[in-house]
Amino acid sequence: MEAKKSFLEQKIDLESPNKNIVPITTSIGTDGKLTIGGCSIEELVEKYDSPLYILDELTLRNSCRAYKKALEKYYPGESLPIYASKANSSIFMSNLVSSEGFGLDAVSEGELLTALKGGVPNEKIVFHGNNKSDKELDFAVKNNIKVIVDNDYDLERLDKISNSFNRELEIMIRFTPGIECHTHKYIKTGSFDSKFGFGIEYLNTLFERISNTKHLKLKGIHAHIGSQIFELEPHNDLGEIMVNVILDAKKFGHDIKKLNVGGGLGIKYTEDDDPPSIYDWVKTISNSVVRACKKYNLDLPTLMCEPGRSIVSTAGITIYKIGAFKEIPGIRTYLAVDGGMSDNPRPITYQSNYSACLVRNPLNINSKNKYTIAGKHCESGDVLFKEIELADCKTGDLICVFGTGAYNNSMSSNYNRIPRPAALLVCDGEAEIIQKRESPFDLLKYDVLPDRFIKQN
Ligand SMILES: Cc1ncc(COP(=O)(O)O)c(C=O)c1O
Repeated sequence: MEAKKSFLEQKIDLESPNKNIVPITTSIGTDGKLTIGGCSIEELVEKYDSPLYILDELTLRNSCRAYKKALEKYYPGESLPIYASKANSSIFMSNLVSSEGFGLDAVSEGELLTALKGGVPNEKIVFHGNNKSDKELDFAVKNNIKVIVDNDYDLERLDKISNSFNRELEIMIRFTPGIECHTHKYIKTGSFDSKFGFGIEYLNTLFERISNTKHLKLKGIHAHIGSQIFELEPHNDLGEIMVNVILDAKKFGHDIKKLNVGGGLGIKYTEDDDPPSIYDWVKTISNSVVRACKKYNLDLPTLMCEPGRSIVSTAGITIYKIGAFKEIPGIRTYLAVDGGMSDNPRPITYQSNYSACLVRNPLNINSKNKYTIAGKHCESGDVLFKEIELADCKTGDLICVFGTGAYNNSMSSNYNRIPRPAALLVCDGEAEIIQKRESPFDLLKYDVLPDRFIKQN
C-alpha cells in the first residue's frame, strides 16, 4: 500500500493562502529540514530561542492581494477591505495591511493606537466594540475614526459628543442579521442571541432615534456573522438582508453609502478542513449585494469586508522545543513543549485543531508514534494536540505548529508568569524581529508593593 502523503507534500495554492495548511514559502531544505521564507527554522531558533512566532511576508501579502483583486474583479462599485486587527495586532501588521491598501478594524484604544502607529490612515479605520469606554469613544471621534455603533449606550454618548463639538458625525451601525452558521458557539455572532449589535427587529426604532439627533448621520451598516466559516450560503443570504436594511433606513431619510459584511472566511487548519477560496467568498458576497441592489433599484454602496483569520492565520507558525516525556503504558505518551496555552489559548478555549511536524523530519518519515503534546502550564487542559502522529521525537527537538498567525499572539497571556515569545517576519531568506521576546523581569514592571509592606519586611 502506498504511504499516505504528508500535508507538507500537498500542492500549494499561491492565490488563496487560506486553502493551505502551511505558509506558501514552506519548503524542505536539502538537509531534509523545514524552512519558511527561505530561512532554516533550526537556525532561527538558535538565534532567537523558542517558543517563537514566525510570520511569512509573502503569504500575508498574497492573502491581502487576493481580497483586493477579487473585489476589483467581482464588485463593480467601490470597495474597501479592512483587516480585523483582533486576529493579530501589531505595528508591523498595521503597516503591512496599510501598504496593501487595506483599512483596519479596531476594538480598543490599544488597537486604535497600534493602527495609527503603524501608519493606517485615520479615515480607513473603523472602531467596533460592545462596551466602548468614554475615553475610547472620545479618542475615536477626535481622531476622525469611524465609529460602528453597537448599542443605545454608544448612540447616546455619540449624540452628546457631536452636540458638544457642534458638528456632524458620520456613524455606522452594527446589527445581527439572524443568520446561523456552523462554527464554534463562541465565535458565532450573527444569530439573534448575540452580545454584539442591534437586533434587526429594533432597527426601525433606531433609525427614528438617529433621525431625531441633531448631528449624527447614519452612513453605513455592518454585520458579522461569525468566524472560521466554510459555507458560502450564509454570506450569500447576508447581501440581500443588508440591502433590505438600507431600504428600510431610506424610509427614515438615511442615505446609507457603506455596507460592511464583516469577516469570517475560514482557513485550513487540518486536512479535514476545506474552506472556500478568498475569490469564491468575495464573489459570493459581491454577487449577493449586486443582485439585491439591482432588484431594488439601489445604487451600489461601497462594499467593505473585515477579514482577520484568512489574512494572517496561514502566514503564521509557532516553533516549540520539546522537553519532558511522560509515557503512561497502554494509555498515551505525553511530550511537553516550552509553551502552550499562554501563547496559544485556542485549543483549551475552542478545542481547536492544528497540524504540526517535527522540524528535522517534517515529512514524518518512518513514523510509528502518536504523541499528546502538552504545554508547560499548570493546567491539565493545557494540551495542544491529542494523539498526533510525529516522527520519533526526543528532548531538544523542535516542533512546528502551522496556522497560528491568527488569534494566538493576540489572545496570548502571561499565565504562570510566562513571558510572551518573540515574533519574527521572514522573507527571501531574511528574518527580522517584529515583536521582542518578553522577559520575566518585564512581567514585574506593573507590580507594586505598598510602602507599608516594604517597611514590614
Ligand atoms: C466585527 C468583526 N469583524 C471581523 C472579524 C474577523 O473575523 P475573521 O477573523 O473570522 O475573519 C471579527 C471576528 O471576531 C469581528 O468580530
